[in-house]
Amino acid sequence: MPRIRVLSDQVANQIAAGEVVERPASVLKELVENALDAGATRIEVRWEEGGKRLLEVADDGCGMARDDLYMALERHATSKVRTADDLGHLASFGFRGEALPSIASVSRFDMASAEQEGAGHRLRCEFGVIKEVQPFSRSRGTTITVRDLFAQLPARKRFLKATETEHAHLWGVVTRMALATPAIHWVLESDRSGRLTLPAVPVAGARLGPLLGDKLTALVPFRDGAAPWTLHGYVSPPELSFRDRNHLYLFVNGRAVRDRLLLAALASAWEGFFPKGSYPAAVVFLDVPADAVDVNVHPTKAEVRFREPQRIFPWVGRALREAWSGLRGGLASVLDLPPRPLEPELERPLAPVAAEHPHLWAATPPATGGHRALEAAFPRREETSRAAEPVPETTVRYLGSFDATYLLAEATGGPEPELWLVDQHVAHERILYERHFLRKHQPAVQPLMPPRVVRVGPEALARLAPFLDACAEAGVEAEPFAEDAVVVRGLPDFLMDRDPEALLADLLQRLEEIGHVDLDHFRRELNAELSCRSAIKKHHHLPADLAQRLIEDLLACEVPHTCPHGRPVIKKLTRTELERSFGRRA
Ligand SMILES: Nc1ncnc2c1ncn2[C@@H]1O[C@H](COP(=O)(O)OP(=O)(O)OP(=O)(O)O)[C@@H](O)[C@H]1O
Ligand SMILES: [Mg+2]
Repeated sequence: MPRIRVLSDQVANQIAAGEVVERPASVLKELVENALDAGATRIEVRWEEGGKRLLEVADDGCGMARDDLYMALERHATSKVRTADDLGHLASFGFRGEALPSIASVSRFDMASAEQEGAGHRLRCEFGVIKEVQPFSRSRGTTITVRDLFAQLPARKRFLKATETEHAHLWGVVTRMALATPAIHWVLESDRSGRLTLPAVPVAGARLGPLLGDKLTALVPFRDGAAPWTLHGYVSPPELSFRDRNHLYLFVNGRAVRDRLLLAALASAWEGFFPKGSYPAAVVFLDVPADAVDVNVHPTKAEVRFREPQRIFPWVGRALREAWSGLRGGLASVLDLPPRPLEPELERPLAPVAAEHPHLWAATPPATGGHRALEAAFPRREETSRAAEPVPETTVRYLGSFDATYLLAEATGGPEPELWLVDQHVAHERILYERHFLRKHQPAVQPLMPPRVVRVGPEALARLAPFLDACAEAGVEAEPFAEDAVVVRGLPDFLMDRDPEALLADLLQRLEEIGHVDLDHFRRELNAELSCRSAIKKHHHLPADLAQRLIEDLLACEVPHTCPHGRPVIKKLTRTELERSFGRRA
């Protein structure tokens, strides 16, 4: 008697669901992706008890005919892909034809859909068994309701977390989805958070406040590249940092991804702008041609693979580094402009303002968003940082030094004078670093006399070999030598100090971590090292004119407030703070 049998569809679907449907948030992601693929302009999401009891997504997309309601629950049935070739250039989120059958096999599943007003159907399915299909009058679009997820699968149900945790995961999904789709009108409703309406807006920036909180409205937009290769989004200025990486949102062609390599590129970009152990917030949209990326590499599509990683990562790193160094105005404003007097403005009653300035009243942005809401979310820099009347430039006067290490200076020009303490070593380090590094220079290649043979072993050579051309372009002239070695013939000037063997070992390690050669990283690291070595040391008495110049040069830096290793450079004390400490003020 044969022992091998084909599984029933129901069991096969439940097994497949193990991969696709991990928790309510994964159900939500699949349903929303389907709504987006259906061309929806409006999506309403609703859940109860962290999605365990109820999860519903309603859209105004193309809808489905009666027969397609059945087909949608068949495994490997999809309207989005026909041939294997299609997988190479996907324009849709879906392509497997697995999500709905998987979800329907582990829940009480209700799907109502109509291709046109009035003429719809409704299908009801319980844990993989279709119970009924009835005519159902509704507007164009689809509503899918998922109840009692995993109720009949105790083993899976046990893995669901507390309602708050699942609720948080659901928010994670809608946040990413709504950030990536500014043109869609969203309604998000749950038993715990109430109802949030997000009207369509021209760009994602207008959603930062409602979705990520007021703090993140301080993110600054950036853009790089030209269609079809574009990189754009929002980054936090260096004065807005976080203790963890939870404020990083990465999207590739509109898909939220957790991509180790992209993250590494991002991390290489923020180095030097954010102190060690603190992280920026960033919302980054990478858009590339559909055939430049493979999304069919992860069961829940959370990761992607780039066909030409060596083209993507250096670009992402450079563009973001430029975005951060371009925030100079914002940084300078932290140093030399007064904080905006928010409270008094907020406390002022509205009516008198309107009466005094009737034109202001007329310019009040409509509550529904659109352009004005956008402008409000991203006021031009002068408006954010400066009050109504122009503020004079900060002038800094050197007063003396403490312990031949800390420079004392008086800063005026802001709302009140400040006393600054500047660490002379790290200040000088920052100045040197920016002078040498941020000025982009093409490395000059210096030949190694005699060339140096480094034995790396055959396996490492195989990994390194494809990148040797890229290395040569960047000034590291190296060729394979026999089966297990590399001969290094030249090095860029900024790496001349390095031992070629250690350099290759570093390169290999970077290859392991981020999959491409990143000489820029070495350049930065080395520069930080060199700047540190050549900077004025502590306990070194500086003449007054040099000390004055040092502080002025520091102010002219792109990132004056942290050293290249991330240590703070300036400590400030306002007059008010001083007066408080002397008991002159409450
Ligand atoms: N909201 C919707 N509006 C219109 N059609 C839909 C909707 N949801 C699903 N469908 C149809 O049902 C089919 C099956 O959906 P399902 O999510 O299972 O697979 P898919 O989206 O094609 O691929 P994947 O498994 O990768 O998500 C889709 O191909 C689509 O034709
Ligand atoms: Mg789908």
